[in-house]
Formats: sequence, structure tokens, C-alpha cells
Amino acid sequence: MSNRHSSREPVIRAAHATLGYEGTPVLHGLEFQVPAGSRVGILGPNGGGKTTLFRALTGEIAPLSGDLKVRATTATVAQTDRSRLDYPVSALDVAAMGALARLPWWKRPGRSERRQALESLTMVGLADLADATFGDLSGGQRQRVLIARALTADAELLLMDEPFTGLDATSEQRLEELIDRLAANGRTVMIATHEVEQAERWDLVLCLNGEQISFGDPASAISKPVLEATYGGHIVEIPGQPELGVLPAHHHHHGDAERPGR
Ligand SMILES: Nc1ncnc2c1ncn2[C@@H]1O[C@H](COP(=O)(O)OP(=O)(O)O)[C@@H](O)[C@H]1O
Ligand SMILES: [Mg+2]
Repeated sequence: MSNRHSSREPVIRAAHATLGYEGTPVLHGLEFQVPAGSRVGILGPNGGGKTTLFRALTGEIAPLSGDLKVRATTATVAQTDRSRLDYPVSALDVAAMGALARLPWWKRPGRSERRQALESLTMVGLADLADATFGDLSGGQRQRVLIARALTADAELLLMDEPFTGLDATSEQRLEELIDRLAANGRTVMIATHEVEQAERWDLVLCLNGEQISFGDPASAISKPVLEATYGGHIVEIPGQPELGVLPAHHHHHGDAERPGR
């Protein structure tokens, strides 16, 4: 019975939280609560603070002030860029790496970890490709293998930082379906995205631009003034959608790889 009560507690609770680096704030006014099993879209321009929020949620950085509480095992699903694919590891190897954090330092993933990794690959629809070389997979498949790794780590809260970047329409749809399934199974998924229309399909939206612009269900948290405040000058009108009026122009990352401490 006490379990039922505690499962209604929010997975994340931000109260007056300010995040930043070496004492310099970059993200103000975080004030939101996320229940378990939610799909949360995070909208914001490049530099708006999306990745900084994820770093705070994993505990990599502490709030400069205020409170940010996370009541879940948490894993970040990294972006998969080609430059990091030098090692000839299999999809199963990558999925099994999720077990490393739970193993004592002298142990390598063994049979039970590999069995669990295969279950994770099955969950993301890639059991058939367990033996395939990770670097040979498509971008969408690699993204799902990294989600499998987070599942092997038993993550209850999955942080996906622009996971749709570079995916084709089919992979994008598969990933969206997987996010739906993860949430239906009680996992909480936060997804940084540039697609407003995508965020509208999820349960909650958090708009960031150096501060929290809005938070709530998409119908109340997304509006023309909110999008203008979120994207500033980087907005374009959408023909035929006057009620919403604006969508962000597509941003593409180039500078991130050069930035230290990512
Ligand atoms: N390691 C860091 N040290 C100092 N400032 C950083 C660091 N990482 C990001 N920033 C700054 O924090 C702000 C938010 O960046 P970031 O969280 O990466 O935004 P987003 O992920 O939305 O593009 C930016 O102004 C960025 O320059
Ligand atoms: Mg980022």
C-alpha cells in the first residue's frame, strides 16, 4: 500500500532551480514536476539549456540554487555520431555495457548480463541484429541499441538528447513507437527535440530558453507567445497553420563536438 502511495510521487521535482557552470547561471526558474510514465518533450533553441538540464538530472552538475530532485535510476541516451564508431563491438556488446555500472570493478559482463542485454535488444526490436557490428547499423538502429543499453542499466528515467537528429522518416517513426512503449511500461522519457509537432504528441512539454518559458500538457504549454519566447528570432511562419503560427527553423549542430566538458 505504501508502494502505491510512493509511486504517485513525481519522478522529478524542480523548485526554483537554477543551473549553470562554475557559478555562472545558464538556466533559471525551473519549476516543474514529472510523474512516472510520462513522455516529456523539451523544446528550446541551441544553447537554450536542454543538455544542461540533462546533466543536472543525472547528477553530473548540481543546481547553483533551488532544488532539483530525481527519484529514479537515470540514464542518458547519447547521440550516435559516426566519429565514435571506431571499435568493432557488436550490438549485444553495447547493450551489455549497461550492466557495467552494477558490476564490481573486477567483473566483465558475463552470461547473465548478456542474457539481459538480449532482452533489452528484444524490447527495442533489434534481437535479430544482436551480433551485427554496432558501427554498421543505421543511425536509427544505433539509437535503439543505446536505448537498449539504458534498459540493461535498469534506467527508470531515460534522457534522450535530440535522438531524432539525422534519422529518416521510418527510423523516426520506430523511435517514436519505442518511446510510447517505454512510457506505457512505466518508464519516464524526456526527449530534447526541435520538432514542435512531435512534442505535441507527448504528455508534457518543457520550453527552455535560458529560463523555463512554460511547462505543462502540450495544449496549455505550447502557444504562439510561448514559441516566440522560446525561439526568439529563430522562428518561421508555417503556411496554413495560423493558429500556431510559428515553428523553429531547423538548427543543426556543428559546434558541440569542439566544446570541452560535454
Ligand atoms: N561545460 C560548459 N561550461 C560552460 N558553459 C556551458 C557548458 N556547456 C554548456 N554551456 C553553456 O550553457 C548554455 C546552455 O547550453 P546547453 O545546455 O548545451 O544548451 P542546448 O543543449 O539547449 O543546446 C549555453 O550558453 C552554453 O554555452
Ligand atoms: Mg544540447
